[in-house]
Amino acid sequence: MHLGKVMVIFGTRPEAIKMAPVIKELKKVEDIQTVITVTAQHRDMLDQVLSLFKIVPDYDLNLMQKQQDLYSITTGVLNGLRDILMKEKPDLVLVHGDTTTTFVAALASFYERIPVGHVEAGLRTRNKYSPFPEEMNRTLTGRLAELHFAPTDTARENLLMESVAAFKIWVTGNTVIDALLDTVHPDYQFPADFPAIDFSRRLLLVTTHRRENWGSPMRDIYNALIELAEQFKDVEVIFPVHRNPIVKDMAMEMLGGRERFHLIDPLDYEPFANLMRKSYLILTDSGGLQEEAPSLGKPVLVLRDTTERPEAVKAGTVKLVGTNHQAIIKEAKLLLSNQAEYDKMAMAINPYGDGKAAQRIVKVITEFLYVRIGSSN
Ligand code: UD1
Ligand code: UDP
Repeated sequence: MHLGKVMVIFGTRPEAIKMAPVIKELKKVEDIQTVITVTAQHRDMLDQVLSLFKIVPDYDLNLMQKQQDLYSITTGVLNGLRDILMKEKPDLVLVHGDTTTTFVAALASFYERIPVGHVEAGLRTRNKYSPFPEEMNRTLTGRLAELHFAPTDTARENLLMESVAAFKIWVTGNTVIDALLDTVHPDYQFPADFPAIDFSRRLLLVTTHRRENWGSPMRDIYNALIELAEQFKDVEVIFPVHRNPIVKDMAMEMLGGRERFHLIDPLDYEPFANLMRKSYLILTDSGGLQEEAPSLGKPVLVLRDTTERPEAVKAGTVKLVGTNHQAIIKEAKLLLSNQAEYDKMAMAINPYGDGKAAQRIVKVITEFLYVRIGSSN
């Protein structure tokens, strides 16, 4: 029996990584037709993930521009989705997380009266401008969604506080753990063209891209890295630099060519995830890394003032240090020079999932489509 059509819409690297397990599970259900639409808010960083997980989009808006801003992404996604949604008339649209693609795809679906399932629902800092614009993107998506797939109990509580009906929320775990467990292997061999990293040194893995860190906070972060590398000669800094020119230009200008710094292109997810496993300490403003690193037993210093992922902070493997140069140095120094402090943080914990989140999500979707057919007969 044909249960219905599900359209999965996403546009950036992290959405693709976290939707890949859901797509894999959806495709196992013969009675559901799965249609994939990418906005390509990211291009090469998205394509890296599509090729790793062998995802072939049915529609590709190919939106990315080198100088895009929030206005051009918003209008591009909204206008681009109109004809696709009108033509395909899916029974459900699935979106992920908190990007502008996420929010605008949910809005376009609402305009077509198509129900929306929100994967990774309910993350909140309660600060409209941090992270910006993600906090508002996910809050507004939550208002528009019909099915809320919350990764943790905390996320569920957040949704309940916003008066989302309890029967519309499922705690599923985060699909990033499904993707990670599929990708990290103890016997993984890095590709032959991988940068010449000295794995006998302690590796500091760094990523930055948050809009609220652009400018002086990012300068502070990079200055702290320079000082740390000067103080600890047994350390190498590995920094796959985000393609955003605002991030890339400053990173290259301040850190390029320095001894024991590897500024490299964004890595494919497979080498990146396995590099996390080999690193000593992770410094990042990313959301996804805060979920992945704890399950690999890697301490994370979060270069932000707020986090929507309090679970690993509570468990002690993630520390919110902000962007103050002295604060970053103080916390990193402690972990680089005090083994007991390091060991306290380097625990493998898994508050974000058991690798079966996608199965749970697809089970709910299947039931949703059954009920929908029943109620339309
Ligand atoms: C976006 C999302 C953010 C998400 C992040 C994941 C919004 C507003 N922001 O931020 O929520 O956490 O993606 O990485 O939705 N670029 C390339 N190639 C790529 C990708 C980006 O060259 O494959 C460059 C382009 O110059 C582009 C710029 O990066 O204009 C910025 O991309 P954008 O999606 O606007 O911002 P992100 O910081 O990636
Ligand atoms: N990642 C990757 N290659 C890299 C850097 C990050 O595949 O060079 C992965 C990382 O493992 C995580 C995701 O990209 O799953 C995080 O993306 P990003 O930091 O851009 O976005 P956020 O998590 O903040 O939304």
